[in-house]
This record gives sequence, structure tokens and C-alpha cells, in this order.
Amino acid sequence: MPTLTFHGHACFVLEHERTRLIIDPFLTGNPKAVVAPAKIPKLDAVLVTHGHGDHLGDAVALAKRDGALLVAPFELAEVCGERGAPNVHAMAIGGAHDFRFGRVKVVNAVHGGTIADDTRHSPPCGYVVTLGGTRVYHCGDTALTLDMQLLQGGVDVMLVPIGDNYTMGIEDAARAVEFVAPRTVIPMHFGTFPVIDVDPEAFRRRVGAGADVVILRPGESWRR
Ligand code: NI
Ligand code: MN
Repeated sequence: MPTLTFHGHACFVLEHERTRLIIDPFLTGNPKAVVAPAKIPKLDAVLVTHGHGDHLGDAVALAKRDGALLVAPFELAEVCGERGAPNVHAMAIGGAHDFRFGRVKVVNAVHGGTIADDTRHSPPCGYVVTLGGTRVYHCGDTALTLDMQLLQGGVDVMLVPIGDNYTMGIEDAARAVEFVAPRTVIPMHFGTFPVIDVDPEAFRRRVGAGADVVILRPGESWRR
């Protein structure tokens, strides 16, 4: 079972044995982050769901610092390589790959695809990461989709956006939990900015007995 640490917004560090990876490392400029990128221990991999600044964030800088593998949707991976990420692995929705640290499957997300400081587009995605036998689904930024039903039975821990406006809100996120039926749900992408300030306790009530809702504050870790 890996340890998950929430760093605010959509940023999580997953650790298992000697392996550490980070997803959507928006630390610099994140008003809720309590840890500077320099304080993140050495990473094996950096996963990015899409090119918006609040997800791409410090990805290239961290990948450079540690020589970490940067995993991203194809066009975004290309941009990260041009920006100096030393090891880039491009993927696309529907594809999975067995990395040394674990398996990554790229799944659909319905959201925008612009890339911060670039004119190109790259389709956004979510990831199902299997690490130490635990399947973690990071939804990325997304609307509620029927595609999520395809993941039912294949997810142990779901990291789900609830902040509304740019992503699912509480009601849709609770339906997403019904579709996927994970054991544990951790809400994300709320409270960072006033427009996505929602109450995670209201989400917990909405999910009810459907799953264990674990509400993490930035900097907090969780392990089953
Ligand atoms: Ni976004
Ligand atoms: Mn976002």
C-alpha cells in the first residue's frame, strides 16, 4: 500500500518502498501549498494530466532536478521535452504502460487542452496508477463522464475534483464515485481560489456510505 500526500489543489505524492512519484505538481504560486518544490524529496516520476498552469506547475523543473521521468499526454510531453525535461514518456488516452515504478493507464477527461505559455493543445487526461498493488485513479480536471463506469471495479483510491466551475462539483463528483465504486475517495481541486471554494464535508455527506471519504489538508499524508 503506497502512502499518498496531498500538496493542495490536484497535487499528490505517491510513495511505495523506494519509489516516489508526483502528480500535477503545482507548488510555486499555489496559495494552499505548504511545501516548496525544493522540499519535495527525490522523485522517480512526474505525471501531468494536462497543460494548464495549475497542473503543469513545477513539473519540468522537478523532472530536471531529479532526472525523473515525465509522463504526459503526447503533445504536452513534447512541449515538456522542449522545455528541458530530460526523460519524457508520451502517452495517449486508452494506453497503459508498465514502468519500473508501476503501471500507468491513461483515461479520459473532459476539459480544456491548452498548454500554459504555448499555442499548442494537448488533450487532458486522468491516470490510473498501480503502485504496490493499489490502484489510484487521479481524475485530473474533468466533467462527470459515463466513461468513468468503465473503471468500476478497477480502482481502490479515487482522487476526485469537487470544486465546481472548472471541474465536477460536489453532486457530479458524488455520482462519479458511484460510477467508479472505489473503496476510498480523496477530494481535490477545491478551496485553492475563491471560485472553487466548496465544503468537502458536504461532499462527504453526499457520498454517504458509498465510499470512505478522506479529507486531507495540504501537507497531510494518508495510508490505508
Ligand atoms: Ni485545468
Ligand atoms: Mn485545474
